[in-house]
Amino acid sequence: MYTEKVMDHFLNPRNMGEIQDADAVGEVGNAKCGDIMKMYLKIDNNVITDIKFKTFGCASAIATSSIATEMIKGKSIDEALQLTNKAVVEALDGLPAHKIHCSVLAEQAVKAAIADYYRKQGIDPEPIVGKLTEADHH
Ligand code: FES
Repeated sequence: MYTEKVMDHFLNPRNMGEIQDADAVGEVGNAKCGDIMKMYLKIDNNVITDIKFKTFGCASAIATSSIATEMIKGKSIDEALQLTNKAVVEALDGLPAHKIHCSVLAEQAVKAAIADYYRKQGIDPEPIVGKLTEADHH
């Protein structure tokens, strides 16, 4: 039922852990299942130079967080904001239909971390926070 890529990222998660001196942290929860995902970012000159995650959740949530970190590491904040749960699912060669909602967490965690960064920079995070709710309804 899971693709090889999902199994690989679940069994060997990339960028798992915590960044002690992170520039931004985003934490989101899935209302449907109670799973939690936390993303830590290091940002330099608008580029995500390092990223780590901690996911207390199902296999799909772990696999999607892992691949999401790979997809936005080294990218600009604007590029990272374009990351959709759909792109994450495609990068994993698909998820079972009833597991698609797990991928929403990855998109939201990235956006929540960037919103946190904006807040710390004194920039209004509202446009991103608005997108967070949108992502919830994918
Ligand atoms: Fe909770 Fe997958 S079942 S995120």
